[in-house]
Amino acid sequence: MLFRQFFDTTSSTYTYLIANKKGAEACIIDPVLEHIENYLKAIKDLDLKLVKVIDTHVHADHVSGISKLRDKTQCIACMGKSQNASEIVSMEVSDNEKFKVGDLELRALFTPGHTDDSYCFLLNNKIFTGDTLLIGGTGRTDFQNGNAEDQYNSLFNVVLKLDDSVLVYPAHDYKGETVTTIGFERKTNPRLQVKSKQEYVDLMSSLNLPNPKLMDIVVPKNRKHGVPLEIQMQFNGINVQQLKTMMNQKKVKLIDVREDFEIQRDGLIEKSIQVPYTQIENFFQNIELSQSTDQFVLYCHSGQRTYLALQKLKNSNIYHLAGGILNWIEAGESVRRT
Ligand SMILES: [Fe+2]
Repeated sequence: MLFRQFFDTTSSTYTYLIANKKGAEACIIDPVLEHIENYLKAIKDLDLKLVKVIDTHVHADHVSGISKLRDKTQCIACMGKSQNASEIVSMEVSDNEKFKVGDLELRALFTPGHTDDSYCFLLNNKIFTGDTLLIGGTGRTDFQNGNAEDQYNSLFNVVLKLDDSVLVYPAHDYKGETVTTIGFERKTNPRLQVKSKQEYVDLMSSLNLPNPKLMDIVVPKNRKHGVPLEIQMQFNGINVQQLKTMMNQKKVKLIDVREDFEIQRDGLIEKSIQVPYTQIENFFQNIELSQSTDQFVLYCHSGQRTYLALQKLKNSNIYHLAGGILNWIEAGESVRRT
């Protein structure tokens, strides 16, 4: 497996580039905006195709590079499901859901506590813990709806249930450490030596840490990485009502570009066919659009993936559902469960 750890000295943030092998599909976890060009160079040098970029949570100490990487590479921006996630990213994963990056399979673990949107991501014998578990520490719980009780549960009932040999890659380290293991942290991490949840809560409430310097600027920025509806509409976007009118009047082919786990979770619009997002250009290359009387409507989770697809496809017979299936469901329209 190809694995590269980048470090941002300003915020002491670690970013991870992961792929199965040279030439394969890749993902990046917790990118920092200022280092986008470094990541892209590594991707080019290794002949990788970036297909997913993941944030473990909304960061407070650096501006995420998630939207810049999405726009530069048309990859899928991904976060764990939470209150605001669907506005920020194009794909949400829920607790315990698995998703693919090439041949690799990552599993999302919901681990609230540092923030209410914190997730860890497990890949074979590696776990990317964000700010949930750090080397010799744990993420603070005193802002962004952090909660020490939740973090205790996330640590002791989720992360520390993993085998001692699992390698732990955090989002930060302030002392130059790069990796640890579950077993080492279980034995030596001072925050994990508590005898009860209350002892952990008391420990976390006694920290009295200053807020990150740029928090008031960075957090609002990191909540705005998504593609707003009005921008989605500019690239042959249609709303739910327009789609229903088209379905009643014309020959419409509906194409769902989401992944299998999303379709199983949220259902799909009746009569749609599934074409993976990464295959959409190939799909249309095989269709003589000028000869076709069909109209095509693409949809995804929140419209952000199909917005990217439409920028590439640029054809007046291809539309996409702005707001995705989320807006369809919110409008009270039915979905078929698979
Ligand atoms: Fe954080």
